Amino acid sequence: MAIMDILSFPDPRLRTRAAPVESVDDALRSLVDDLLETMYDAGGIGLAATQVNVHKRLLVMDTSPDRDRPRVYINPEFEVLDPELGEYDEGCLSVPGYYETVNRPQRIRVSALGRDGEAFTEELDGLAAICLQHEVDHLDGKLFVDYISPLKRQRIRRKLEKAQRVRA
Ligand code: NI
Repeated sequence: MAIMDILSFPDPRLRTRAAPVESVDDALRSLVDDLLETMYDAGGIGLAATQVNVHKRLLVMDTSPDRDRPRVYINPEFEVLDPELGEYDEGCLSVPGYYETVNRPQRIRVSALGRDGEAFTEELDGLAAICLQHEVDHLDGKLFVDYISPLKRQRIRRKLEKAQRVRA
């Protein structure tokens, strides 16, 4: 297993639309394990392959309190079960240090393949539903900062660009 580098906003590679996974083989399972290790190491509750510059439709999550329930979604698709929106303060491992309120549906039904390549469907609500939608956005090249005002987004962009120059 390996910890991978996470791309930071405004890296243009985060805008890539990921391609469907064609087969769930050992190489893909190895990538799943690296994604999980990277997510736990970074202290996140979700991570999409896009964020480590792998443009395949694959994401991992763990929204459990004890961080002992890894979830894997390959080629995830979801439908909204309740159109009522809920407000969450969202953060992102690719937008380190910033949290902004985003409104999203709070009940969804997701279909995906698991780590074993088997198809499954489940209903998610609350934090897990929000997180899944946030991660699927990554696979479509979208970030939570796309939902906030352009002024706020610009301010975050400038601060993160400055921080990246300092680190380089
Ligand atoms: Ni994110």
